[in-house]
Amino acid sequence: MKILGIETSCDESAASIVEGSGSSVKVLSNVVSSQIDIHRKYGGVVPEVAAREHVLNILPVVNKAMSEAGIKRSDSMLFARNTHIPQREFLDAIAVTVGPGLITSLVVGIETAKILAYSWNIPLVAVNHIEGHIYANFINVIKEDKLKINKVVFPAVILTVSGGHTMVVLMKGHGDFEVIGDTRDDAAGEAFDKAAKMMNIGYPGGPVISALAEKFRVLNYKSEDGRLKFPRPMINSDCFNFSFSGLKTAIRYSLEKDENWKNRVPEYCFEFQQAVIDVLISKTVKAAKKFNAKTVMLSGGVSANRALRDQLAQAVKKYLPESKFIKPDLKYTTDNAAMIASAGYFKAINKKFISWNDLKVNCNLSL
Ligand code: KG4
Ligand code: ZN
Repeated sequence: MKILGIETSCDESAASIVEGSGSSVKVLSNVVSSQIDIHRKYGGVVPEVAAREHVLNILPVVNKAMSEAGIKRSDSMLFARNTHIPQREFLDAIAVTVGPGLITSLVVGIETAKILAYSWNIPLVAVNHIEGHIYANFINVIKEDKLKINKVVFPAVILTVSGGHTMVVLMKGHGDFEVIGDTRDDAAGEAFDKAAKMMNIGYPGGPVISALAEKFRVLNYKSEDGRLKFPRPMINSDCFNFSFSGLKTAIRYSLEKDENWKNRVPEYCFEFQQAVIDVLISKTVKAAKKFNAKTVMLSGGVSANRALRDQLAQAVKKYLPESKFIKPDLKYTTDNAAMIASAGYFKAINKKFISWNDLKVNCNLSL
């Protein structure tokens, strides 16, 4: 079964074709047109600018995804409903992100999906963006030229960390999610972005902070003398919730008091990142133990963080030796449409289609 995925919830216009069979999902194409360079000068995403860029980019991005997947179609098929063509030979469904996200951005993807589904006479699937991030873990990975099918055994506990969300999710089966932990204030990615803004080191903050933290780790890891120490908010609380605003305040006060901070930026990055990772891992392990998770997974833009990937893998090995750890391929960590198509495939095989008229934006959609 071939699915076209479309994702426009924030500042990435993305389209992808995946081919699913049983529990295996293979990516045939994955095209992402990022607007990061445009939004960088504002230090964050400007919704109206993002929407206009999506309008310009989405059809070329879909076209590229189709041609890279080897799917041929004539231009007339893009606009004219042609019931004589056996459409399902080239695509079985279109999966599109309906929320959460920026309303003006989401609407571009949804209207594109509707028009293409109508023209090509194929069904639509509505996908929650966070669910999409989770389903990035169901995409096959190619390791040393060998295909590895990620077999997820339920129940699974997923740490999902992005610019907009920080959640611990219990997944008992396909489409069966329970949010068991959430953030009370900032999301983990948002905290990375804000910390980077305070130090004026670039946007988005996650990749810059992780690169500088790694530099500090390699050069200074052993010397503990006079090292910065930030709090690990809520690490000892019984619940699985998070709070990152106190950490943000701690870094702000520390910078204000430290005349020499400009020479210590890598150390600030290292300690900030480690504080976030310690809390994320502690809560995930606690939740996985409580719910007897057979699989622990990681997802969302912050799952691109190497230190988090490595340290969570080690923690699962040490504290949950019976559980399997799965993390998405780096290509599918930040926003992309392959993850949306992957979630769409599992919905399509269960016939969870949505009618053209019912497909609507829901920018506050919960899992
Ligand atoms: O999932 P995503 O692409 O968009 C949302 O759904 O929000 O996540 C973007 C977030 C940004 O906050 C960005 O700073 C963070 O993911 N991020 C990282 C890394 N790469 C991206 N955070 C930490 N380390 C990284 N390497
Ligand atoms: Zn995302």
